[in-house]
Amino acid sequence: DPIQPPDLSKCGPATVGDDTVACCPPFAGQKIIDFKFPSPGEPMRTRRAAHLVDKAYIEKYEKAICLMMALPDDDPRSFKQQADVHCAYCNGAYDQVGITPSVDLQIHFSWIFFPFHRYYLYFFERILGSLIDDPTFALPFWNWDSPDGMQIPAIFADPDSKLFVPLRNQKHIPGGAYPLLNMNWSKPDDDKALTPEEQWDINRRVMHTQMVSGAKKRTLFFGKPLKAGEVLPGDRSGQGSIERTPHGNIHIWAGDDTQPNHEDMGNFYSAGRDPLFYSHHANVDRMWDLWKTLGPRRTDFTDPDWLDAAFLFYDENCRLVRCRIGDSLDNKKLKTDYNSVAIEWLHSKR
Ligand code: C2O
Repeated sequence: DPIQPPDLSKCGPATVGDDTVACCPPFAGQKIIDFKFPSPGEPMRTRRAAHLVDKAYIEKYEKAICLMMALPDDDPRSFKQQADVHCAYCNGAYDQVGITPSVDLQIHFSWIFFPFHRYYLYFFERILGSLIDDPTFALPFWNWDSPDGMQIPAIFADPDSKLFVPLRNQKHIPGGAYPLLNMNWSKPDDDKALTPEEQWDINRRVMHTQMVSGAKKRTLFFGKPLKAGEVLPGDRSGQGSIERTPHGNIHIWAGDDTQPNHEDMGNFYSAGRDPLFYSHHANVDRMWDLWKTLGPRRTDFTDPDWLDAAFLFYDENCRLVRCRIGDSLDNKKLKTDYNSVAIEWLHSKR
């Protein structure tokens, strides 16, 4: 059976290390509506590479984030609530519905990783767009798979901007000792002073392995099936190639390793507090689209246990929406698109 959306009335404390935190969404028994595609007349929202956006775009994005941060904390559209979505779905605030003994709902480490995050960004982006009354508003993507995108994009690094947070690894920020993204990073020892060419050569190989040579089958790319009632293996072996590396590595590379839980980016409960998170995931989402163009067997699952798995999100009108994986497969239908940029990892050189 497919994973069911959580029962918001039974949301409880989330676990962070040895502590618990409260990150449940506001819920007063609202009725749940089924997801509907945006109408065909709606404009496309074209996501641009974060290192290539212009001043007018940056101002627009900052204004939208600023308005989102100004919403009351109990408004499901507020930045706080949007960040807490990740905490609730990932740190054990929900149990899987109808399963005894209880099993945590966890949207990482399996085939539901890509679709969950696609919907998460979809609603986050639409809320921002509605706050500035711009139906074309689209998130920027962190183009970490290109040599020019191999560091934290400047728009997130200006301390005077709403897109900045202080809790990042200070060695890895622009101007820090090791600002170049190392896609294999997992511990301080991995910090090496490489030239951009050397670092790119490593990252290019990572990308080629995770997208091309090591992702020839669906389960390798998306991750392994997870069905209702199943417990994830503790070794995270259900993860797909991209979810593990670079996605996971970038989270811990970006988070502040002097904080108890590597806040913000380095823990599920806090990752969504860093605006960088949404651009990181926009690029992860872009990989799903790209992967499907790389060969004939690279298609979405057809198993109903995947297609009918569903999540709940609040939309830009504070309606609670039930979203099936099956409705998330085609970004064009969601009015989501990516500016095309050169892909330099596609062919393995040398
Ligand atoms: Cu839900 Cu980047 O993780």
